[in-house]
Amino acid sequence: MASAMKPVLCVGCTVIDFVTISASFPKEDTDERCLNGNWQRGGNASNVCTVLRLLGLKVDFFGVLSKSDGFRVLLDDLQRRQIGVQHCPMSEKDPPFSSVIIAQDTGSRTIVHCNKNYPYVTWEDFRKIDLNKYGWVHFEARHPKETIKMIETVRQHNALHDTNIKISLDFETLYEKNLELCLSCDYVVFSKDLASRQGWETACSACSHLVSALTPSSVNIICPWGKEGASCVDSFHNYSDVPAHEPDSVVDTLGAGDSFMAGFIYATYVSQKNLPDAVDFANRVAGHKISDYGYDHIAQIQKDQV
Ligand code: FRU
Repeated sequence: MASAMKPVLCVGCTVIDFVTISASFPKEDTDERCLNGNWQRGGNASNVCTVLRLLGLKVDFFGVLSKSDGFRVLLDDLQRRQIGVQHCPMSEKDPPFSSVIIAQDTGSRTIVHCNKNYPYVTWEDFRKIDLNKYGWVHFEARHPKETIKMIETVRQHNALHDTNIKISLDFETLYEKNLELCLSCDYVVFSKDLASRQGWETACSACSHLVSALTPSSVNIICPWGKEGASCVDSFHNYSDVPAHEPDSVVDTLGAGDSFMAGFIYATYVSQKNLPDAVDFANRVAGHKISDYGYDHIAQIQKDQV
């Protein structure tokens, strides 16, 4: 069923994640050995692509790729997973990377990101894409000047061609700068980290602050809140709290939010679920993701239970 649907287009970043698995978080200024480690393709939109593919959807990534030798690993992985990159501009610059420490005792993941002003995709590149091909376009909340024009282009396409391409937004950074991006989207997933930085203490209060900030727009808002589950509020201001699906043990939380996002898109787009049920499936995908390292085990999720 999923493979018969139009693909999803994910707009954002892809980076190299240098992952170190450590028994506990290292002490500053010590010299330690880790338990394990690897390099993998990361970045929010890039991870959403990975998980959507594992759930069986066709997906294209739209972000700036690098010509540097080190980036080859990422290109190979995109190709192996059949994630389309045909619209991606290439840069001569070294790619962004993240140093990630996964501490086994607490289950925490600490990310230090290094971007060095790596270029971001522009509206000029985006407008060349034939949107007829897609059923859903997902954005990272970044570079609002360009991204707002991309979102408007999707909306204009819908109005002109009588299509209903859905638009989702992953909102993780720079609240004031990126807030306007929410106004023209169908779904916004707002991160717990950013909500906490705003001083919002629960998922439900984050939802209600966002409703106040975004009314009269009719966007659906979703706030995942780790092991406390998630809250959501639909365009008619109906609130729901949706409990988490906690695994027996927490092994790797890197990319849990991106997995939640992909689960939500899948349940809404493919399974046509209502908002709380789609959030429940998103919680299930995130809960399953953190039960093991990496992403491949997500393919085992029973999608017929959505
Ligand atoms: C996880 C992640 C990592 C990446 C970082 C970028 O959500 O996408 O793969 O290093 O966040 O912010």
